[in-house]
Amino acid sequence: MLQIAEDRNFFVDDALSHIGFIMDGNGRWALKRGKPREYGHVVGVKTFESIVRYCKEIGIRHVTVYAFSTENWKRPEAEVAKIMSLFLEYLDRAKRIADENDMRVLFLGDPSGFPEKTREKMAKVEAETAEHSYYLNIAVNSGGRAEIIRAANRAIREGAKELTEADIEKNLDSRRSPMPDLIVRTGGEYRLSNFLLWQSAYSELYFCETLWPDMKAEDVRAAVRAFYKRNRRFGGV
Ligand code: IPE
Ligand code: IPE
Ligand code: MG
Repeated sequence: MLQIAEDRNFFVDDALSHIGFIMDGNGRWALKRGKPREYGHVVGVKTFESIVRYCKEIGIRHVTVYAFSTENWKRPEAEVAKIMSLFLEYLDRAKRIADENDMRVLFLGDPSGFPEKTREKMAKVEAETAEHSYYLNIAVNSGGRAEIIRAANRAIREGAKELTEADIEKNLDSRRSPMPDLIVRTGGEYRLSNFLLWQSAYSELYFCETLWPDMKAEDVRAAVRAFYKRNRRFGGV
């Protein structure tokens, strides 16, 4: 189920330096199997780890995953608690995985939504992986609207009076990565659900029916192939 099929001749070039994943469909995947939604998140984390590793293998420099939105707190308490405990478990092995993959882990979102212990672990993972060369941005307690407001407020605190696009861009949570070239949403929903609203202005969007826990290397390759067939004009001709 989680095996990544080998295709040693598949690599991306500079045209695809940043890919974003809206990892959707965990709950439905579990319910289809007569399991509680939480089980979908357990398997979803494993899928996340293997897909991120695969993206690095094919040469994608920046990967951003939408793991928990500012709106996801609305979910039943037990589901939120399970997601938080999976996140803590992940934080405990994140450095090892990042070291193995030469990956720099960064968290996008508002950390003040988490308990202090969690925040400390997040900061430690960021600090301890800061020298690696591939970027893994994990969006947790993250939402595009809140991120734009946060960026604007940072710029204002730094003394900006009238904001420019550059003021926002240099203060986004994701400021260390370029704008995403491609955003992939699994789970058959055709929306962004508040993911990287500023950054997605000219991203290519790819939607697939695959539920996130079923996501495989071949699904990534399908999205990448679709990306290379697109004609990115950025408003030009
Ligand atoms: C995405 O899967 C994971 C999170 C939002 C944390 P969902 O939990 O949204 O799964 P579905 O969309 O309900 O199937
Ligand atoms: C988006 O999925 C958030 C994440 C994948 C973390 P949701 O399942 O929360 O989005 P909606 O509710 O279907 O728009
Ligand atoms: Mg969903």
